[in-house]
Amino acid sequence: MAKTKSAYFCQSCGYESPKWLGKCPSCNQWNTFVEEVIDKGALNVPTWKSASGTQRLNKPSKVEQIEATTEERTLTSDAELDRVLGGGLVAGSVILIGGEPGIGKSTLMLQLALNMPNKRILYISGEESEQQIKMRAERITNSPKADCYILTETATQNIFKQIEQLEPEIVIVDSIQTLHSAHIESTPGSVSQVRECTAELLRFAKETATPVFLIGHITKDGAIAGPKILEHMVDTVLQFEGDRHHIYRILRSIKNRFGATAELGIYAMQGNGLREVSNPSEILLSQRDEELSGITIGATLEGARPMLIETQALVSISAYGTPQRSATGFDIRRMNMLLAVLEKKCGFRLGVKDVFLNIAGGIKVEDPAIDLAIMAAIISSHEDISISSKICFAAEVGLSGEIRAVNRIEQRIAEAEKLGFEKIVVSNYNLKGVDRDKFKIQLITVSKIEEVFALLFG
Ligand code: TYD
Ligand code: MG
Repeated sequence: MAKTKSAYFCQSCGYESPKWLGKCPSCNQWNTFVEEVIDKGALNVPTWKSASGTQRLNKPSKVEQIEATTEERTLTSDAELDRVLGGGLVAGSVILIGGEPGIGKSTLMLQLALNMPNKRILYISGEESEQQIKMRAERITNSPKADCYILTETATQNIFKQIEQLEPEIVIVDSIQTLHSAHIESTPGSVSQVRECTAELLRFAKETATPVFLIGHITKDGAIAGPKILEHMVDTVLQFEGDRHHIYRILRSIKNRFGATAELGIYAMQGNGLREVSNPSEILLSQRDEELSGITIGATLEGARPMLIETQALVSISAYGTPQRSATGFDIRRMNMLLAVLEKKCGFRLGVKDVFLNIAGGIKVEDPAIDLAIMAAIISSHEDISISSKICFAAEVGLSGEIRAVNRIEQRIAEAEKLGFEKIVVSNYNLKGVDRDKFKIQLITVSKIEEVFALLFG
């Protein structure tokens, strides 16, 4: 009998070691090593077509001699997903979709599977029974347009047998952590299993030019569970996120070999599945009749898409010795920096105040162009004077209180105008080469934070 071979794997990053270690030398996490049996070759079960044993010997080719083919893209039934993918589904690409439990990954994928017209789609589920999937399918649509097959199976060898018979045009796996390959003896979900199953599916996708979607679980700290290596192996990594208590969900691209990252898709989770939200600004701005202090609108850009987002601030006298600072949807360190600028340049005594900041709609904003809107919201709450809801902001603020230019200003201005804003505050340095007469919206330019204060409150 062949000796079983085992190794220790870091469950956080996939680092392999022959011995158990307390601390992973690669990702510095403690207590993450688990013994896994790697028994390659002992079992003679074929993976995807490897049985035929045709090994191609690749030769180096000159760049000029390689034929340039534009990748073939299929549009899905989901415009948001197409945008996040960079303009449709690329043949043979492997796409990993990560997200917290219950966020709607299975719903998103099943909805795609049911709505792709005239395609044969195989939805492999290792988590739910056929009945459960049928129930969900009925919730989503009562007239499926696609040829959608459901397979409840977790052994990759059996899956490939079915695939060979069915010849699906798109394969969806829910989830990669439930699959297991007979080549490896460790439990499903362990690093070596996840890696092996992904590798087998990857080989299948590349050889047959079939796109494969993999649903992946997420750990507590938000990383895709199991190995980071999974992210290196696949072509595209999408993250499905949002607050489970809100209806909005965001699909974000983290890595994309076939398009830009930073693209964003927005959905609303409804009783009958996910609905695409094509004009996000409208949902992100709350409808309010009276003007309240502490609320401003920032014109931000997510990917190539302009979005007007409401920022809310609450500044109040600190009841305890140490003032509280909290920010939802925004980097708290950056907020502290903006507070320091306000303190130094405008003389606000914010050091003794509690400051709470919230970006509406459960969105996380990284675009620095929201700085000015945040500062204006803080000033507004501090002074308890409201700012007109017809005015919005698009500028970055520097450490010395200078108002800095942001990219694609014309796009932001156009979006603000489209949504009926009357004024937009931008940096003085931002309007070089911008045709100001093109816009009906009033452009207010500022160069220092002090000017903004004077402008808003006279
Ligand atoms: P699910 O797709 O099962 O999440 P995941 O696969 O990421 O774990 O979605 C689960 C949630 O979505 C569940 O709480 C119910 C809700 N939901 C709706 O609100 N409307 C629907 O039409 C469907 C199918 C689910
Ligand atoms: Mg699920």
